[in-house]
Order: sequence, then structure tokens, then C-alpha cells
Amino acid sequence: MCGIVAYTGKRNIIDTLIDGLRRLEYRGYDSAGIAVLDKNKITTVKSVGKVQSLVDKITPAMKKELSKGKIGIAHTRWATHGIPSEPNAHPHLDEKCRFAVVHNGIIENYALIKEHLIGKGHKFLSETDTEVLPHLIDDCYEGDLLQAVAAALKKINGTFGIAVISSEHPEQIVTARKGSPIVIGVGENETIIASDISAIISYTDKVIFLNDNDIALIDKDKIDLRNIDNVPVSREIAHIDWDPGSAEKGGFEHFMLKEIFEQPDAIANAIRGRLDESLGTGTLSGLNLSAHDLVSVNRIIIAACGTSLHAGMVGEYFFEDLADIPTEVEQAAEFRYRNPIINPGTFILAISQSGETADTLAAVREAIQKGATVAGICNVVGSTIPRETGRGVYLHAGPEIGVASTKAFTCQVAVLLMMALKFGRSRRLSRQTGIELVAEIKRIPDLVRKVIATAKDIEKVAKKYAQAKDFFFIGRGYLYPVAIEGALKLKEISYVHAEGYHAAELKHGPIALLDENVPVLAMANNIPGKDKIIGNMQECKARKSPVIAVATEGDEEIRKHADDIIWVPECSQYTVPIPSVVALQLLSYYIAKERGCSIDQPRNLAKSVTVE
Ligand code: M6R
Repeated sequence: MCGIVAYTGKRNIIDTLIDGLRRLEYRGYDSAGIAVLDKNKITTVKSVGKVQSLVDKITPAMKKELSKGKIGIAHTRWATHGIPSEPNAHPHLDEKCRFAVVHNGIIENYALIKEHLIGKGHKFLSETDTEVLPHLIDDCYEGDLLQAVAAALKKINGTFGIAVISSEHPEQIVTARKGSPIVIGVGENETIIASDISAIISYTDKVIFLNDNDIALIDKDKIDLRNIDNVPVSREIAHIDWDPGSAEKGGFEHFMLKEIFEQPDAIANAIRGRLDESLGTGTLSGLNLSAHDLVSVNRIIIAACGTSLHAGMVGEYFFEDLADIPTEVEQAAEFRYRNPIINPGTFILAISQSGETADTLAAVREAIQKGATVAGICNVVGSTIPRETGRGVYLHAGPEIGVASTKAFTCQVAVLLMMALKFGRSRRLSRQTGIELVAEIKRIPDLVRKVIATAKDIEKVAKKYAQAKDFFFIGRGYLYPVAIEGALKLKEISYVHAEGYHAAELKHGPIALLDENVPVLAMANNIPGKDKIIGNMQECKARKSPVIAVATEGDEEIRKHADDIIWVPECSQYTVPIPSVVALQLLSYYIAKERGCSIDQPRNLAKSVTVE
């Protein structure tokens, strides 16, 4: 997904912009560009492909010349309107080259605006929606950059995070947001603006998160914050405690592997200080629900996308089993366009690693609009969903850089379990059962450690099946969402066609696809439903499919039904999704590695999907 960096200060402008772009690479993109302002002249360099291609285009002589500038903007583009190409890459300029703009988001009425501006003599060079912005700013300009940008933004429908420079104002940057994040890093005599704090944390830990319709003028190191209607607003300076080093690979070959191995610590962080051993409950004060609020909840709707949706599906079992609360899990994209029925007592839970996913955010806004109590389960501190819900739980998993979500999923499930425990204890769940569950939750980091210790064995299984073209993952009960998540992991990083199915559904159609070339991975851990899944494994073997079982350590019986086995330590049905999914993450990782895939940045994917 697109990334923005803008800088004003004393550092070398080229190095700083390029460093920022590299830190945003993990988001996924297909072209990149920079614009530098020096002595009332804007110079741009753009390139298709990786940031390195852009760097390769900047010759030493060019770099020397451009480095005289002290202000610049930069962008990584993930194509929406128009193919990945240099003309379509940002920054975009008006034809007099007075205004340069980088933009994340989508301008829905760009075609009408473009037609209108062409009528007034403007000439366009790209197929993008963004290019209308510098032309509109030029059209609205009456000597004040902030006012011109605000006037232009008022004419557009859609979403934007933008940074603008102008040859008429050699010391100013204007930035604004609506529906697409912008963070301003406040340094000593320098300001760095980005769409994501990863590009900022190595410069400063002091940041301002813009709200929708905020616009800011950075003039040298002064920041003038307003809303789009020109009313001054004040926003707190937040302190980010992410260690810049934690966004590096730390000796692992890929971020994904590092993040898989980090899970014991990430989960320990997610549960730290959130369990009350003597009362046998979860604390989770960020939910901000009184005892009365807790018992008033009579229905939960979980809205999320992708891996976060799968975590929500595990949560559905938790809330129903432990708290007796009817729970539905909704794809956030559907929730926003249906007419969801929200009664008093409906509690909406939005789950999102990034806190910026456009569909999940829209679901949150729809729910708030309908008067629901809405909470977020997010990882990125200060991101839009937690700010707009005002209540919820942070994962504390640390930055997740690999596009394939791993540690966020296991921390989401751990948080959902603690949340269900809290709701359950406010109802019929006994103190004793609560105390037992608290003890089980505290074992999770160790369960995960044990699975990670078998990585080499999982790698052997992966090598055996790495050339399969199709895969099925089947599960039941608490392991059904895990099967779906396992299939998603495999398809997104290895490009192997993989389907996650409820084991019982296989015979209602997909079984027709099974033969000796289609392996089936069966979640056969020792939890309720295991006997039934053994029956399903036999059905697969009867169709000659090789069967890989994920099974409980010591379950010798399972050898009769599987060709290969991945072992997971004994644990209850409540905690089993977490170590089991870690085994599937490792299997996918090693299959993708064997196939030579781009694991951290799979084709066509973006870390955070901030468009519909
Ligand atoms: O940031 P979010 O959790 O809201 O992201 C939701 C999905 O886009 C995300 O989980 C996606 O499915 C990942 N690529 C899965 O690995």
C-alpha cells in the first residue's frame, strides 16, 4: 500500500527521504519517487520497481545537486488508477511545476475535476486520480499555500493522506488527512512526516497523529495545525516507545521468520498485567466497561478482515463457550454495506493489526453512527481505529513488518481469550474455572516455544510437499478457523492454491478435487471432535490424498491415519489454536522458502489495506 515521507531539517534530504521510503517498503508498492525543493525549484526523480531502482537513478552528480535542498517529499505507490509507470508514480506536479503532491487514498470524483480543469487549459500527464490535486491547488492558489491546499481538498470526495511542497514557499510543507493516516514526527529543528511511524521512529519518538480533516503547515520547525475549515486545532504530542531496532530483521532471513520466532515474547507482552490470578479473570482496563456494562452486553459482533477475521472466528467460540454471549463474526467489508441490526446491548469488536484497514474502519464508523459500543483490538498504537473507538486493547506485539500476519494473530487470539474470560466471570463462569483458565493462558508462551523448537522437523515436512499445486486444510471446532488461517498463510506467501475447509464440509463438494497430488492437512489435536476428524482423514486417504496431521505430542494412535505428523504440545481447546497456528505458519514459511518466493513482500499484497 502507498507510503508517504516528507522532511524539512538539516539532514541530507536525499538520504533521509530514501531511508524513510525503505522503512515503508514492507507495506508493498510498485513504484517510487521523490521531489526536492531548492531555491524555488522543484526537482523530481521517479522509478518503477523497488526503492533501489530509484536510488540507482540518482547519479552522484545529481545527488550532490539535489542535496542542496532542505525540503522534500517522497512516495511509494501501489497502483490503483493506472498501471505502475513513471508518469503514474508520485510526486505529481501541476504543469507550471509550482506544486508537488504525494497522496495516499482515492479521489472518487477525480474524473469530473480533471474534465473541468482540462476545460480551463490544464494539461495532465498521468492516468492517476492524484494528479488532479496539484492542478486544483494551482487553481485555488492566491498566495497562501495552506489555504490553497485546504480549498482544493474541499472540492474532492474520497480519502487522502497528502504532503505538498511549493516553489512559491521554499520553507513550507503542508500535510493533511482524511481516511488515510498521517503522522508528524517532531524532532529537534527538524520535522519528518510519514504515513506510518516506522519511517519516523529512528528520528524522533515524539509524534502527532492527524485526525480526519486536519491540515498542518510546517514552516521551518513551526507546526500550525488547523482543520480544513481553517479553525485552529490542538493535538497531543504522543511518545512512541517502539525500539527502532525492533523493526530490523535481527539476524533472521526474513521478517516473517523473525516474527514467528518472536511469538513467545509477543504473547507474554500481550498477557502481561492483564490477568488477575486470585479472581480468575482478565483485567483489560482499556475496554473501559463497568461491571454493569459487562452484564448489559447481550450480543457481540466482531468485524475484521483477513487474518484478523480468522482470529475473530476463534473469538466467537470463546465468547459463546465461556461467556454465553451470542456472537457473530462479520467480514468488515460486508458489515459496512449491509444494514446491521444494532440493539442496546450489542457490543462491536473491531480487530485489526494495523488499525488502519479501510473496511474495518468503515465498519467501526457505521457502528458508532448507529450508537453501538465499539472497541478495538489493534497492534499499532495511535492508529485510527483505536483513536476513533476510544476503547479497546492493544496487542503490544511490537511492529509486524512481514506482510503475512503471524504474531498479531496469536496475540489477537490471546487477547480475545482474556476478554471472553472477563465477560464470562461477570456472568456464570466460576472463580475456580477462571483460575484454571488463567493458569492455562500463562502457559501459552511456553507452548509456542515448544512448537518453535520443532521448526527443523516442520521444515522437513515442508520440503516434502513444497511442489504440491493444491492443498486442503481441514479442522473442526476451535481448529476450524486455524485451518482457514493456515490455508491463507500458505496461499499468500507461497502462491500455492490452498483451501481452508470445515472438515465436515469436504464431502459436500470439494472432496471431488482430491487425489494423490492434493495433500490434506488435518488439524487432529486431542480436543473434542478429534474422533470425527479421524473419520474425515480416512475419507481423504481413501481418495489417495497424502494426509499431514497436526496432532498432540504422544498421540501414537494418529500415526495410523497420517502420512506425516507435526506435533503440538498437549493443551486445552481454549489455548490449542495458538501453538497449532504457529506450526502452520512455519510450514507455510518453509514451503515458500523452498519455492523461492518473496516471503516478506508477496506479489500483489500490501501490509495494510487502506483502500476499499
Ligand atoms: O491490519 P489488519 O489486521 O486490519 O489487516 C487485515 C488483513 O489485511 C490482513 O490480516 C491480511 O489478511 C494479511 N495479509 C494476512 O496475513
